[in-house]
Amino acid sequence: MPEKDKGNAGAGRILLAMTGINPRPWYELLSQKRRVATEPEGADDPTIRYAVVWKQRPNLLSKLPNLSAIFSVGAGVDHILSDPTLPDVPIVRIVADNLTQHMTDYVVWRVLDHHRQGMLYRAQQKRKVWHEPPQRPAGDVAVGIMGFGELGRAAARILVACGFRVNGWSRTAQSVADVATFHGEKGLTPFLNATDILVVLLPLTPQTTGIVNYGLLKQLRKRNALGGAVLVNAGRGKLQKDADIVRALEDGTLKEASLDVFEVEPLPKTSPLWNHPRVFVTPHAAATSDPAFLVPPMLEQMEAFERGEPLKHLVDRKAGY
Ligand code: NDP
Ligand code: OXD
Repeated sequence: MPEKDKGNAGAGRILLAMTGINPRPWYELLSQKRRVATEPEGADDPTIRYAVVWKQRPNLLSKLPNLSAIFSVGAGVDHILSDPTLPDVPIVRIVADNLTQHMTDYVVWRVLDHHRQGMLYRAQQKRKVWHEPPQRPAGDVAVGIMGFGELGRAAARILVACGFRVNGWSRTAQSVADVATFHGEKGLTPFLNATDILVVLLPLTPQTTGIVNYGLLKQLRKRNALGGAVLVNAGRGKLQKDADIVRALEDGTLKEASLDVFEVEPLPKTSPLWNHPRVFVTPHAAATSDPAFLVPPMLEQMEAFERGEPLKHLVDRKAGY
């Protein structure tokens, strides 16, 4: 891939600013329709109209005079907003069926595995143990989805269809069929007290940083059909305190956990979470952004914007997500 420019016609260049993921497939697809650069021609490059980003270098976007919008390649935008010199232009995040389906798969997979005692059976198989524990109906189990947005609501629909009781917690009030909804600080304790499996799908903001701590986990239902509380976090690692999760697993506050995200990623080799017998680890892979599905709507949004139509899926910078 050429470093600076390649190109087909198009109004205004795209700056592809990514760290930590491979930009090549994004570059190849974007450059089929528009001119794409991987570095601006100087900090004040006037040819850049859009930035498509994942964890862009700090200050990279601050002086581009004709930047009209920033497109996140993820649903979360904490990786963009953490730049203190971010210019005041609209930020578009990913809301797409493909990504939502991946997350629904992950959540339903992890909830069913905990519900159907996957961890116990895998441990039994290792020891060649033939033992059938009691089976409880899904209706005896309440799944609480913390962060009841695009991804949380989609997962809830399938969990309801599987027969689980579902609770949702959000910042503002929501009303969703077949789901008990809670919101705001006041709604948090009742939500946790009614939850057996906690699924975290919050964005990382100053208000949510460190929210999944020991005190919060203590409020989950322990005497339940599963024989203990379960945590599933596929939101962001800095929502949780890794050490508090280990403590909660050790003292029985938590029975099991499925973790896709961690305070530090990649999860350091020294973390006790790697070898914990009741923790299931995935490498921030719950819902991967697939450029084949996500680039076409991004390019369509750019075209629509240039026709004067409003951008969709905009980030509320004040709320932080
Ligand atoms: P949305 O913005 O659609 O939903 C966010 C939800 O969190 C909303 O319900 C919102 O409340 C709620 N929320 C935000 N702040 C607070 C707060 N302070 N108190 C209570 N509730 C709050 O986001 P998505 O559902 O699209 O994505 C959620 C997150 O999932 C992303 O931000 C990202 O971090 C993570 N993610 C992880 C992936 C992975 O592979 N592990 C992949 C994709 C996303 P309200 O409804 O009132 O606005
Ligand atoms: C996202 C992610 O935010 O993959 O989309 O984490």
